[in-house]
Amino acid sequence: MTDAAHDSPLLRAFELGRSAAGWIWLGSLALSCVSGLLVPVAAWLSRALIESLIAAHRDPEQAVLLAAGVGASGVLSALSGSLSSLLSAKSQRSIMTEAAERLFRAVNRMPGIACFEDPAYQDKLRLAEQASQETPGTLCNLLLAVLQTTFALVGFASALLVIWPPLPLVLLAVLVPSVLAERALGRRQAALSAAATPEYRRYMSYRTLLTSSQGAKEVRIFGIGDFLARRLVDALGRSADRQLAGQRRAFGIQAAVACLIGTAVIVSTGYVAYSTVVGRLSVGDFVLFTAALAWAQGSTGSLLSQSSMLLASLTRFRSFLEVLRMPGERITGVLPVPPLSRGIEIDNVWFRYSPDGEWVLKGLSVFLPAGHSTGLVGLNGAGKSTLVKLLCRFYEPERGAIRWDGLDLRDCAVESLRQRVAVTFQDFATYELSARECIGIGQLSRLAEQDAIETAARLAEIDETLKSLRYSYDTMLTRVFVDPETGREGVTLSGGQNQRVALARTLMRGDADLMILDEPSSGLDAEAEHKIHQALRRCRIGKSNLLISHRLNALRDADRILVLDDGAVFESGSHDELMAAGGRYAALFAIQSEGYLEAISGA
Ligand SMILES: Nc1ncnc2c1ncn2[C@@H]1O[C@H](COP(=O)(O)OP(=O)(O)O)[C@@H](O)[C@H]1O
Ligand SMILES: [Mg+2]
Repeated sequence: MTDAAHDSPLLRAFELGRSAAGWIWLGSLALSCVSGLLVPVAAWLSRALIESLIAAHRDPEQAVLLAAGVGASGVLSALSGSLSSLLSAKSQRSIMTEAAERLFRAVNRMPGIACFEDPAYQDKLRLAEQASQETPGTLCNLLLAVLQTTFALVGFASALLVIWPPLPLVLLAVLVPSVLAERALGRRQAALSAAATPEYRRYMSYRTLLTSSQGAKEVRIFGIGDFLARRLVDALGRSADRQLAGQRRAFGIQAAVACLIGTAVIVSTGYVAYSTVVGRLSVGDFVLFTAALAWAQGSTGSLLSQSSMLLASLTRFRSFLEVLRMPGERITGVLPVPPLSRGIEIDNVWFRYSPDGEWVLKGLSVFLPAGHSTGLVGLNGAGKSTLVKLLCRFYEPERGAIRWDGLDLRDCAVESLRQRVAVTFQDFATYELSARECIGIGQLSRLAEQDAIETAARLAEIDETLKSLRYSYDTMLTRVFVDPETGREGVTLSGGQNQRVALARTLMRGDADLMILDEPSSGLDAEAEHKIHQALRRCRIGKSNLLISHRLNALRDADRILVLDDGAVFESGSHDELMAAGGRYAALFAIQSEGYLEAISGA
C-alpha cells in the first residue's frame, strides 16, 4: 500500500472500526446485506402472488404459500435490519471509546505545553474530538446504507430489466450526479465547520466562566453575568453563522437534485403505467415497479444524506489523524537521565514565549549543585516560574542550554527527566477526586499505599484536616461530583488547604532527584512555610531542592539564594552573605521584616 493510500481517512476510519469492534462490526455489516437482499425478494414474491391471483387457473395453496413468503421475508428483513442496528450501536460504542483513547494518548504524548497555548492546535483538537465521536458512527451508517442499497439494487436490477431495460440506466443517470453534488456539499460543509471552531471554543470558555464554581463568584460580585452571557451568545451566533453560510448554496444544489429525481420518477412511472394499461406489462410488474421505486426513493435519500455527512466528518477525521501523528514529529532526545550526582548547569539561557515576544530570560547562567537547597527570589514577572518550566522541559531555551550532570536536556527522554523531578507549581491543579487519590496520584505506583499517602500528608501538615473529614481520606475533594461508586458527597477545601494537598502530592515523590516548590505559600502563613522548608530539608538529606518564595524569610536557611531580576541572576549567596553585601536582597529583606510584606508580594 502506498503512503497516500495508507493515510486515506476512509481506510483509517475503517481500520479503526475493524480493530475496535472486530466481528460485531463485520456482523452488523453482513446483516445489513441480508436485510437489503430481502427487500427485492419480498417484492418478487408480491409480484408472483398478484400474478397468481389474476391468473386464469388459480391455485389457492400456491397463493397462501406466496402470501406467507411475502410476510416472512418482510419480517426477516425488519428483524435483520434491527439486529444490524443493535450490533452497529454496540460497535459504535467500542469504536468511540477506542478513538477517544487513541486521541488523548496522543495529546498526553505531546512533550511540551506550548501546543496548549496555540490556537491552531486547540482548533485541531476540537475537530479531532468531534471526529472521534462521530466519524465511526457516520462511517457505520454510510456503509450500512451503501451495502443495503447495493444489495437491494442487485436484487431489483433484474426486475427492472424485465420491466423496462433502460430503467436501471435511468436510475444510474440520476444517482451519479446526485452523489457528486452531495460530495461537493459535504466538503464545503466540513470547511465551514472548521471555520466555526474558534468561535465555538470562545463560546465554551464563556460557558465555563458562567457555570463553574470558580467563575460563579466573580461573575456575581462584579455583576458581569449578563455581560458575559451577551459575549457567549455573540460567539455562539458567529459560530452558527459560519456553519450556515453554506446553507443557501446547499439548498440550490439539493433542489436541483430533487427536481432531477422527480423527473425520473414521472417519466418512468408514466411509461410503466402506460405499458400496463396497453397490456405490455402485467399488474404484477406494475406492483414490482412501484416497490422498486419506493425503495429507490427511500434509499437514495438516505444514501445521499449519509454520504454528505460522511464526507464532512471524514474531513474532521483528518484532524484526528493529524493530532495522532503530531507527537512523534516533535519528540527529540532519547537518552535516559541518570541520578543527579554533580548538578544542573543553566548556561546562558535565553527564552521568550513567542518568536516576536519579549525576552523573559536574558542570558541566565547559574549552577545548581546536587544535594543543595537553592532559594530563588525576585519580583513578580522576573522569570522564576518560567525557569521551572524550562527545567521540566515544557519549553526549550531559544539560546543556551540546560545540562543535567553535563547532559543537555534536549538530548534526554522527557519521561525519564520527569521521573526525576517533582514540582509543586505556582498554579497547581485541583482534581475532582477523593483526598486519597488527590495525593496518591503524585506517584501512581503507590496509589494504594495508605501509609505513604499519610506520610506525605503529615509532612504537608494536612493529614489531620483530611482525617477529620466525614469520610476521611475517601472524601471527594469537590462538590461538583459525588463519589461514582458510593454516591457520597464531597467537600470544598480552603485555598491554603488545597495548596497543602498539592504539596503532599509532590511529597509522594520524596525521593526525586530534584524537588521544586514554586511559591507554595500564598495560602500559608510565613512560619508554616518556613516549617515546611525545614521538614523538606530533613527528609531530603543529600537531595537537591529549588525553593521559590516571595517571602525571603522562608528561604533564609537555603544553602544559596539567587536573586533573579530582569531575566538574569542579579546577586547570589547565602542569606548572611547577601545581607552583609547590602544589595537588593538586603533591601528587600529589610522592607519585608518591617512588615511591608504584602506590598511586594502576590505573584
Ligand atoms: N505562557 C506564557 N506565555 C507568554 N508569556 C508568559 C507565559 N507565562 C509567563 N509569561 C510572561 O513571562 C514573564 C515571566 O513570568 P513568570 O516566569 O511567571 O514570572 P515569576 O514567576 O517570576 O513571577 C512575565 O512577563 C509573564 O507575563
Ligand atoms: Mg511565578
